[in-house]
Amino acid sequence: MSMHKLLIFAVLLALAVGSSGAFAQGPNLGKPIGPAEIAAWDISILPDGTGLPPGSGTSAQGASVYAQKCFMCHGENAKGGTNAALVGGGPITGMESVKTVANFWPYATTVFDYIRRAMPWQQPRTLTNDEVYALTAYILALNKLIAENDPMNAQTLPKVRMPNRDGFIIRFPDKL
Ligand code: HEC
Repeated sequence: MSMHKLLIFAVLLALAVGSSGAFAQGPNLGKPIGPAEIAAWDISILPDGTGLPPGSGTSAQGASVYAQKCFMCHGENAKGGTNAALVGGGPITGMESVKTVANFWPYATTVFDYIRRAMPWQQPRTLTNDEVYALTAYILALNKLIAENDPMNAQTLPKVRMPNRDGFIIRFPDKL
């Protein structure tokens, strides 16, 4: 090996040893995440209601939150405005059919999950759990899926049966 090649070899070797040392140590960036911080992100709710937080709300309470925080996009009585209708929707006959909470969503618990994580559009994650339960009750009551005064909470919401509950075909049941 010429002197020149030997030098390159030595440099490469030093780099390799150096970088594996760095990997073993970690890059020393950030700080360990604690259970409380993980809990704040871990907000998924399963179809059966697993993960629903404490709290409760009625349709009447939801109506006033709706007027302040949702009306401007989803329109009067949630019939649709600049953005999607949250009420109504005809039978689904094909790919082009308009899909709504009432004619498409299989689980009521998803309404809570979706609103809590994504709405209002311009300020997600700003609603309290009581507000989300109330808004969920409001949308379900407008769709006549619950009675006007039924409170929604971790016990009642999973029991609401959505019209399209059995409308989904499990393509590969053996993979479940
Ligand atoms: C700035 C406009 C805006 C505001 C305010 C807003 N939304 Fe939305 N919302 C959207 C957009 C955009 C979508 C997703 C696209 C679509 O379906 O139009 C959406 C979708 C939804 C959906 C799912 C509809 C579906 O069938 O897929 C629900 C439920 C919903 N919003 C509830 C609410 C509630 C409750 C509030 C009030 C807390 C709210 N939104 C406030 C813009 C808004």
